[in-house]
Amino acid sequence: MPARVRIVEVGPRDGLQNEKTIVPTAAKIELIDRLSATGLQCIEATSFVSPKWIPQLADAAEVYAGITRLPGVRYPVLVPNLQGYERARAAGVEEIAIFTAASEAFNQRNINASIDESLARFAPVMERARADGVRVRGYVSTVLGCPYQGAVPLADVVRVARALHALGCYEVSLGDTIGIGTPGKARAMLRAVAAEVPMAALAVHFHDTYGQALSNILACLEEGVAVVDSSVSGTGGCPYAKGASGNVASEDVVYMLHGLGIDTGIDLGRLVDTGRWLAAVLGRASGSKVTRALAAT
Ligand code: HMG
Ligand code: MG
Repeated sequence: MPARVRIVEVGPRDGLQNEKTIVPTAAKIELIDRLSATGLQCIEATSFVSPKWIPQLADAAEVYAGITRLPGVRYPVLVPNLQGYERARAAGVEEIAIFTAASEAFNQRNINASIDESLARFAPVMERARADGVRVRGYVSTVLGCPYQGAVPLADVVRVARALHALGCYEVSLGDTIGIGTPGKARAMLRAVAAEVPMAALAVHFHDTYGQALSNILACLEEGVAVVDSSVSGTGGCPYAKGASGNVASEDVVYMLHGLGIDTGIDLGRLVDTGRWLAAVLGRASGSKVTRALAAT
């Protein structure tokens, strides 16, 4: 297992994108600033996607302009196309994430493109990013199952991950979008991808719909992955993935990692406080079991 793990905090983006009630821009900014003070090194701040598709993140430029960017912390944003890239750059963004899926059916619903069309759409984005010195992360969704197509062949996951890496993504995050996977399948999927893309360029991204996320992460850590995506307070879900629920809670991942003697650089107490604050903003209980356990002691 790795001695150190980098957490990619996706709460401000994946966490909020599925919220029905619009979260005020000031609260989004405060969330990111609070997260910046926890020791996190990478916080996905927002999405420059079509506001018609994701109205919750229509204020991406205002959010990005409002946050205090700390040295040593990266603040990537999601970008679906060249238009999104230009909006992100105009806002001062220095790192982006592009996203596609291993399932055709999901990709059509999520970004209105086939897998190959989406890869073709990213080529000019990558060209611009290279010229501008912008780092690019890539996501593959539905790596362990699709809400529309059902099973997703491993070969499709490997092909898309390899394509994103070949396009120039420094890291490819493997997303169990609907949280349907179990540890044996997660391990086999990661192993298959790692045969084609270096493990050091891979991350895992588990939603916790079926309560399997921590077990899946542990199985993947045992395979050698050292980057884990998670969302403070366990918020999250993709509106174009029927049945998707929250991401695994960052607090719970950090608690597990520290318990395993794995360093994250994160102050768990501050993270728990931020998750509590976010739960209060959203008007519901935290999705983190660690936070609930600490409240009871
Ligand atoms: P489309 O409708 O096919 O796009 O959407 P279009 O090019 O035909 O444009 C339609 C309209 O959108 C036009 O405006 C464009 O200007 C505008 P109109 O002329 O009608 O007024 N538009 C934009 N506006 C602002 N920013 C842009 C942009 N692009 C077009 N970037 C598109 C295609 C990709 C844009 C759309 O499908 C989209 O935005 N999809 C995003 C969906 C999304 O954000 N899903 C959630 C993120 S993925 C996820 O959560 C999974 C992940 O967490 C990993 C996992 O869990 O597996 C990453
Ligand atoms: Mg996700």
